[in-house]
Amino acid sequence: MRPSCECGGKDDAIGMMEAMVHTTQKAQRMIVHTKSAHHLCTVIVGGNVEQAAGLAKGMAASKAAAVCCQNTLPIARRIEAAATGGGLDCTVIAMDDGEENKTLATVENLFNEFQKAGLDRDAVVIAVGGGVVGDVAGFVASAFLRGVRLIHVPTTLLAMVDSSIGGKTGVNLEGGKNLIGAFYQPHAVVIDFSTLQTLPPQEVRQGFAEIAKAACIASPALFAKLEQNATAMVSLEPSVLEEVVKQAVEIKAGIISQDERESRIPHAASRMFLNFGHSIGHGLEKASKFSIRHGDAVSIGMAGECGIAVRLGILEQSDAERIERLLSSLGLPTSAPGVDANSVLNAMEYDKKNRGGGLVMALPSAIGSPTIVQGVPREDALDEIMKLAKGGD
Ligand SMILES: NC(=O)c1ccc[n+]([C@@H]2O[C@H](COP(=O)([O-])OP(=O)(O)OC[C@H]3O[C@@H](n4cnc5c(N)ncnc54)[C@H](O)[C@@H]3O)[C@@H](O)[C@H]2O)c1
Ligand SMILES: [Zn+2]
Repeated sequence: MRPSCECGGKDDAIGMMEAMVHTTQKAQRMIVHTKSAHHLCTVIVGGNVEQAAGLAKGMAASKAAAVCCQNTLPIARRIEAAATGGGLDCTVIAMDDGEENKTLATVENLFNEFQKAGLDRDAVVIAVGGGVVGDVAGFVASAFLRGVRLIHVPTTLLAMVDSSIGGKTGVNLEGGKNLIGAFYQPHAVVIDFSTLQTLPPQEVRQGFAEIAKAACIASPALFAKLEQNATAMVSLEPSVLEEVVKQAVEIKAGIISQDERESRIPHAASRMFLNFGHSIGHGLEKASKFSIRHGDAVSIGMAGECGIAVRLGILEQSDAERIERLLSSLGLPTSAPGVDANSVLNAMEYDKKNRGGGLVMALPSAIGSPTIVQGVPREDALDEIMKLAKGGD
């Protein structure tokens, strides 16, 4: 039988970030309560991947399918072994890696693999990988037999702090990224830092950009911690990394708990704030035909959007400089020499988040305080992007 909703009827608490952190021996456990999914999502920060098997078993799963890519296959095998050892049948399915495989064709393959493996409605899908595996496997879980339960085991830093949290799933169309998808909350997220040991440094850096963004929009304290510990972060010093990831997850979880589906009306905990750096960032990704990686593009985007915020009189120059310094100290780029500024701006204007003509941007008004600006003048945006293209100021 499917376990009933874990809300336990506590509707008064729905929509609030419940609970924060129960400390188990070492791992931190956080409960995220979202409105539409009507279940709690448990986020274990600093656990071990085998816990995903235990959680699936605890959810009375009939079967499990661990979806991974070649790079995360050894991790999926560990989960398979733990599941099998606990008496839960688990099939490992490796999908082709990379953004170019975030497609409907991959989705169809996975549907067929799930069927071949005999998954039924009481099965649990365990997504083992970075954002690509998580987005695809999450989307497949949302639609297979009209929805089977999902656990994320993020194995990139970006997936730990960003893509595994918040319930956005989806795939790309030829015409653009993430155009097909669903909001589908996982039942659990298991963050095991040991998985980062095999992640190349340029991939680790992509996660730093989203962590810095979280600090810029929500937490002067996290920002200061990053400033003081940038070197420790770059060398993945466990004590610093774990605390920083926990705070970044709390920030994203807190926002999505109050704005799960990115409402169009800005409010105090708007999901739109998470787009800081992403307006220019998406433009850069598209204009560079995705040769600039997402985190790098967001970092450059944050530098450019800070420039716009200063220009509009929203942000102090000194705060913009502090943000740029932090990004550099984390090894992130803050300019894109040689990029064609007009192409970036054109790509931004096609961004699906820009509604009704003018550019809409989430800009910081101070470190930790974001604001949504509607109708950012095109010329101001273009001037700032041109500065980025020249290599900064
Ligand atoms: N759903 C969301 O809210 C959300 C948010 C941000 C980004 N995303 C999506 O996430 C994707 C990017 O995710 P990403 O940055 O994690 O990249 P990715 O999933 O492409 O992973 C990057 C590379 O690292 C490899 N890898 C993953 N884990 C590894 C490990 N532990 N050891 C060695 N190699 C490993 C992967 O195989 C891949 O080659 C994009 O498609 C983006 O659209 C989604
Ligand atoms: Zn992002």
